[in-house]
Amino acid sequence: MISTANIRIDKIAKSRVTDYDVNNVPFGKCFSDHMFVAEYADGKWQNATICPYGDVPLSYAMSALHYGQAIFEGMKAYKNDKGEVSLFRPLENFKRLNKSAVRMCMPEVPEEIFMNGLLELLRLDSSWVPTSESGSLYIRPFLIATDEAIGVKPSETYKFIIITCPAGKYYSEPIKVVVETDYFRAVHGGVGFVKAAGNYGRSLYPTKLAQQKGYQQVIWTDSATHHFVEESGTMNLMFVIGDTLLTPALSDTILAGITRDSVIALAKHWGMKVEERKVSLKEVAEAYERGDLKEAFGCGTAATIAQIVGIGFEGKDFVLPPVEERKFSTKVDETLRLIRKGKAEDTLNWMMKI
Ligand SMILES: Cc1ncc(COP(=O)(O)O)c(C=O)c1O
Repeated sequence: MISTANIRIDKIAKSRVTDYDVNNVPFGKCFSDHMFVAEYADGKWQNATICPYGDVPLSYAMSALHYGQAIFEGMKAYKNDKGEVSLFRPLENFKRLNKSAVRMCMPEVPEEIFMNGLLELLRLDSSWVPTSESGSLYIRPFLIATDEAIGVKPSETYKFIIITCPAGKYYSEPIKVVVETDYFRAVHGGVGFVKAAGNYGRSLYPTKLAQQKGYQQVIWTDSATHHFVEESGTMNLMFVIGDTLLTPALSDTILAGITRDSVIALAKHWGMKVEERKVSLKEVAEAYERGDLKEAFGCGTAATIAQIVGIGFEGKDFVLPPVEERKFSTKVDETLRLIRKGKAEDTLNWMMKI
C-alpha cells in the first residue's frame, strides 16, 4: 500500500507559476511545477515520488516507443470562487485506466497510488488551477512500458506518471465534421474501447485529410459497413432528433466517455427520452431532411460539449440549426460548468474536493 505518507516529495525550489497567466495559456503546452511518478518492477509498485516537472532519462529501446504499450487518461480539476479545488468524477478515470491496462497487458495501477498521487500533486500545484469561468487544470495520467529491450512481449517494468497543465476553452467556435467512410478508428475485437496511445496515432492521417477539405474533425463509422456512426474525433457523438437524445450504444469500438455518461445522466434526470443504440447514417440523414435533427454535438473532457454545426456526408453539407436554438446541449454544457465550478448543486455527487 502506498499512502500519502509514502510518497517522496521533492519540491521545486521556486514555483514557475508567476511566469504565466494561467487563465490564458494555449492548451497542453505549459506544464505545472510538479509531476507524480510511480514505478513497477519485480512484480510490484514502488518509489512513488512527486518531483519537479521536467525531462527524464529514458532508453530509446524502451518498449512503449516500439510496440505501443502506452495508455493514458484525461481529466480535469476546477477551482471555485473560494479558491477550493475539486476533481470531476476521478474514480471513473481510475477505473478506465485499469480497463485499458488489462487490454494492453499492463499491470493495473492500485487505487491508493492513483488517487493519493493525484490528490497530493494537486494540493502542491493548486495555484496552477485557473480561476476563469471556462478554465480548468487538465490532468494527464499515463502508464508506459519501460523495458529496455527489443522484442514483442509485455514489458516487465512500467512507469505511471501524472502531469498537469492549465486549460481554457478547447474549441472556441462550433465545428464542422465530415463522415469518414474509408478509414476507421476502431474494429471489433480491437482496442477502440480503451485509451491506447496507438488509437490516436492512427487517427491523425484521416483527420488531416478532413482538415484539408475544411472540416475540423471526422465522424468515425463502423469498420465493417461504414453505415453506423461511432464517435467524432476524440469525442462521443450525440444527436437530438425530435425530442430524443440519441447516441451510439457502447461497444468494443467506442470509448466509454465520462462526459457521455454525465450528459446521459443529466438528460435522464431532467426527464428527457434517451436512446443508446446503433445509430445509422441513413436515419441521421432522414431526420435532417425532415427537419427533425435539432442538435448534434461531440462530448469529452477537453471540450465538454463541442457543437457541430455542419456535417459533410456523401459530398453534401448538412447545415444544422444555430447554437442559440439548441436547448438541450447548451443547458447541459452550462449545467456541467456550474457544477464543476461549485455554482450549482452537485445532485449526482460528481465532485471530489482535493
Ligand atoms: C476516443 C475518445 N472518445 C471519447 C472521449 C471522451 O471521453 P471523456 O468524456 O471521458 O473525456 C475521449 C476522450 O477521452 C476519447 O479519446
